[in-house]
Amino acid sequence: MFDQSKIHPLLKQAVVSRDGIRGIERPRNLMEAVTEDAEPLRSLAGMHIVSARQFDREKILQLGRLAASYETQPDLIHPPLRGKILVSAFYEPSTRTRLSFESAWHRLGGDIMSITDPNTTGIAKGESLADVGEMFNNYGDVVVLRDNGEDSVYSMLDSLRIPIINAGNGIDEHPTQALADVYAIMKWKPEFGTGKLKEDEKVTIGVIGTPNRMRTVRSLLLLLSLFSDSIRKVYIVNPSQDVLDEDQKQELETAGLKLEVVQKLRDILPEIDVVYINSIAWVGDSYETLTGDIKLTSESQLKAGAIILHPLARGEELDESLDGTEHNWYFSQARGAVFIRMALLTCLVHRINLVVDSPVDQPEDRTQ
Ligand code: CP
Repeated sequence: MFDQSKIHPLLKQAVVSRDGIRGIERPRNLMEAVTEDAEPLRSLAGMHIVSARQFDREKILQLGRLAASYETQPDLIHPPLRGKILVSAFYEPSTRTRLSFESAWHRLGGDIMSITDPNTTGIAKGESLADVGEMFNNYGDVVVLRDNGEDSVYSMLDSLRIPIINAGNGIDEHPTQALADVYAIMKWKPEFGTGKLKEDEKVTIGVIGTPNRMRTVRSLLLLLSLFSDSIRKVYIVNPSQDVLDEDQKQELETAGLKLEVVQKLRDILPEIDVVYINSIAWVGDSYETLTGDIKLTSESQLKAGAIILHPLARGEELDESLDGTEHNWYFSQARGAVFIRMALLTCLVHRINLVVDSPVDQPEDRTQ
């Protein structure tokens, strides 16, 4: 036996922080909690995915279950996208979304064309997005688009005859990030998804961010509203008060979410089960960060067992001292994004039948 005291402390920490991220116990628990039902997924075949509003609870549960089966049994995947091509068009910086979509597509056996600079395409010569969309029909089977304009994805819808996925359109929406967020929550607590939490087990969520300026937060709140019966309350934490548009608030409350905007994190942190923190809002070619002194560290008064989610990239609001703690679910959340995107992509390209290896029919041919 080697002298364990000679192991660098960072090595020990790395092992601790990986625990629960790569393990299959949690996705397996989610699979066991959700009864398999392919029906809600079938209508996704050939669909454009632009807004979180296009999902319902059953779709999310079944996508989560399929994602969990991919995460649990990667060796059983019969590459369902072999011979298919993804057009990955990212006209704004991205680490996670582009790479996790591309990783997901590769893991499903497909090929990728990636555009990371619109100026290498006809857009630099004034070509319209609609015309670019018309061309994409000839080259690929699915398009994933990130653009800092809210309208860009909508400009392409009319000319596209293959599905497009909105990977972030300005300050509007980022629906697949929200799917990754909810997938992480369902792995943490499967009963959250199935609605089997007792009254005193319901989850209190703190969203640190700006719902009317941050696409991740806007989409997440919409998806959370589908699980209102599992949520005691959602606190929106922001130093300023003007963070929820009136129609946004009304839509969420009508869907059953109990919302409260608070200015100070420390007042509510000890009662929060799920802390969702994001500081960045992309606006045009630049980004805004949350003002004020909101910062989470390992010294923060977090509830025992509370989980922290963050869409990343992080800034000073999320201290690295939390990385080696039980609260770090943000790395697991980022990893899970690959599997939930695999599930979604499979369903868009195939009319799904059952589980990992059974995509059956092609969606109706819409290329004419
Ligand atoms: N979560 C997210 O959208 O990260 P990227 O900007 O790196 O894609």
